[in-house]
Amino acid sequence: QALDNRNIFQVDHQVTTESRARANGHKGGVLWLTGLSGAGKSTIAMELEKRLFQKGWQINVLDGDNVRHGLCSDLGFSHEDRTENIRRVGEAAHLFARAGMLVITAFISPYRADRDRVRSIDPQAFHEIHIATDLEECERRDPKGLYRKARKGEIADFTGISAPYEAPENPELALNTDGKSVEETVSELVAYVEAEFGRN
Ligand code: PPS
Repeated sequence: QALDNRNIFQVDHQVTTESRARANGHKGGVLWLTGLSGAGKSTIAMELEKRLFQKGWQINVLDGDNVRHGLCSDLGFSHEDRTENIRRVGEAAHLFARAGMLVITAFISPYRADRDRVRSIDPQAFHEIHIATDLEECERRDPKGLYRKARKGEIADFTGISAPYEAPENPELALNTDGKSVEETVSELVAYVEAEFGRN
């Protein structure tokens, strides 16, 4: 339910986005990874975080499995709960980005409308990256044994099996990890990030 916000007024910052970018040597923003369970989102996000941190970037990862232990511990995997999960995380990611950080998010975020809503908070700062590993490969990897359980009917609403995944139609970048090392994929992303958010 929407709150009555008639008595809420926004205040302006005295530290500008531009001065933060100048001090950090790069722009803030949201690198939104989306893809199936097992696609490689978390592995790629953490490796990319490490690589950019070593280069002196202000960087942070928000990861589905982690956030669901805290900020979103009250949410499950119904359509409604996933929408709320993505709404909260999207708002949080943009707050970090406004503070000058580059935020990498790793959530399945299966619904196009939810991702579009996060984009609309600040379209210029939002880059949608499809980790486009196909279902067959994700199921073959099955790093947590979840696909096997979902096939046996032991997990309800499992993305790709008994719940939908709506692939991005116009992502800023789509990466298929099939047959590629994490190293190769992450190097591609480092180059992308430097070109899009770096000093120039
Ligand atoms: S979502 O759809 O964006 O809200 O999901 P997310 O917050 O990224 O959480 C996905 C991780 O939760 C585990 N898990 C499930 N995933 C999909 N469907 C169902 N039903 C489910 N139940 C538990 C799973 O470990 C996901 O992690 P990843 O890293 O994506 O494999």
